Amino acid sequence: MVILVTGGAGFIGSHTCTELLEGGYEIVVLDNFVNSRPGTLGHIEEIARREFPFYAVDLLHEQALRRIFKERRIDAVIHFAGLKAVGESVRHPLWYFHNNITGTLNLCSIMAEFGCKRMVFSSSATVYGIDSNEPISEEATPRTPINPYGKTKLMIERILGDICVSDPEWSVVSLRYFNPAGAHTSGLIGEDPKGIPNNLLPYIAKVANGELEKLSVFGDDYDTPDGTGIRDYIHVVDLAKAHICALRYAFAHTGQDVINLGTGMGYSVFEIIAAFERASGKKIPYQVAPRRPGDLAVCYANPSKAKSVLGWSAERDLDAMCFDIWHYTQRRG
Ligand code: NAD
Ligand code: UFG
Repeated sequence: MVILVTGGAGFIGSHTCTELLEGGYEIVVLDNFVNSRPGTLGHIEEIARREFPFYAVDLLHEQALRRIFKERRIDAVIHFAGLKAVGESVRHPLWYFHNNITGTLNLCSIMAEFGCKRMVFSSSATVYGIDSNEPISEEATPRTPINPYGKTKLMIERILGDICVSDPEWSVVSLRYFNPAGAHTSGLIGEDPKGIPNNLLPYIAKVANGELEKLSVFGDDYDTPDGTGIRDYIHVVDLAKAHICALRYAFAHTGQDVINLGTGMGYSVFEIIAAFERASGKKIPYQVAPRRPGDLAVCYANPSKAKSVLGWSAERDLDAMCFDIWHYTQRRG
């Protein structure tokens, strides 16, 4: 079985590539390194002790994309490639719509041209745009993402749904991730965003490592037990394993299915700081800052569909997540 992994050099893509290789799949990886580094590919090969073909291709370049399908017999695609920074999407909406949506349209057209009709797609909990003290299920409405990034994910889900309606041979599993975090236990791959991190755990890791002075906690006056925002943090290795289950599901079913990937547990910013201090043995200096525009108070998953449909549930806890991030941070220096 040959799986094309778009965005395979990225954070979630690299962990999924190692799981695929260890699971006996053949992979072909595509990335344009807009948000990743070529060195990650060697680390994947080192962990899995297997080599794989790589294409430095941008999804926007149709001819280059077509060449991959001409040269390789692709059975299914796991589609991670996309831009993902919320604030950047507000500043550069055209770039986000073009990259994420046109890129996906190109990919789907070429897949159809070559009769490859199975896809696992990286969607996001951001499509819900809901502030709720209840865990969020897949049917939750209204779906009102409040930033261009979230809108690209919702639009892509709808496009994929329409493709499945138009051709009943298509099979798409759209996975709505909650808050991916953690790193591989080897310490070789993890999340290393370019520039100053937007997300909580990469930011804390850089504070613990002395690269940044202190964390700003965005608001301590939310209607939550300690006043800070609550999220569902999921270990990237658990997430990667869910993609193998989703792939199997895509081979056994047709049509589009949409599935949450989270743990069902919510943690506050203060709880995350405490967990990271435990894992690293370092004090995390912080200051309370104003709320970040667009942030929700609480967002966590009802993960029961993933369990019943994919037979998957998260196994790694918050301490493991923080420990693995710290190990990775120290290894990369
Ligand atoms: P990432 O930025 O680390 O990985 C994405 C990869 O896609 C990068 O390596 C980037 O270089 C590549 N890429 C982007 N545009 C491309 C293009 N036009 N052509 C070729 N390659 C391109 O991000 P990640 O955290 O690994 O996220 C993977 C997917 O999951 C993304 O689609 C993201 O939107 C989605 N997602 C991520 C999160 C999160 O918090 N990490 C949450 C929900 C959903
Ligand atoms: N936070 C801080 N300080 C920081 C960064 C974050 O206090 O420096 C807080 C936020 O206010 C929030 C929590 O930490 O309460 C988590 O924030 P993140 O930026 O890590 O994550 P978000 O929940 O805002 O968003 C992430 C991804 C989105 C994805 C979403 C899915 O960035 O792409 O999870 O739930 F869509």
